[in-house]
Amino acid sequence: FAFSPANQAWAEGQISKYPEGRQASAIIPLLWRAQEQEGWLSRPAIEHVADMLDMDYIRALEVATFYFMFQLQPVGSVAHFQICGTTSCMICGAEDLIGVCKEKIAANPYELSADGKFSWEEVECLGACANAPMAQIGKDYYEDLTAARFAEIIEELAAGKVPTPGPQNGRYASEPKGGLT
Ligand code: FES
Repeated sequence: FAFSPANQAWAEGQISKYPEGRQASAIIPLLWRAQEQEGWLSRPAIEHVADMLDMDYIRALEVATFYFMFQLQPVGSVAHFQICGTTSCMICGAEDLIGVCKEKIAANPYELSADGKFSWEEVECLGACANAPMAQIGKDYYEDLTAARFAEIIEELAAGKVPTPGPQNGRYASEPKGGLT
């Protein structure tokens, strides 16, 4: 693994923000950029980041395995769906969303769809419980989902469209009556 020239320059800029001896503080942005470049975090990518930060590989791996925003195995080239399966989402229909994943993508978490475009996993609470059930795709939250709307989102992504993130039922599409006060 090596960063592209542009990403290498960006990574060096990140590292330079920290005082001498504290370069390891740049671990998360560098891992994130490596994942953006390759689609997931391979061992060589984590080793490369650890070397740049003068860290042991195991310490970089500890960070990469702690946060589920990091993917340690290949994921769909178009989207990896993270379906929240914790209490609010479970009560409001997470199982239905997982059913859509099994039907339209693959039977098991992290299994790639036949065309390699999609994969999915169930994750713990993503902090959007009021808008359950929800799924994260990349950096975006798709909330207030139904199984039908979720299936549409997969189809839209497969067709090269980017569905608008946020609540999918129109909630707060405009200013709530009387404002927020
Ligand atoms: Fe699903 Fe919190 S329970 S976002």
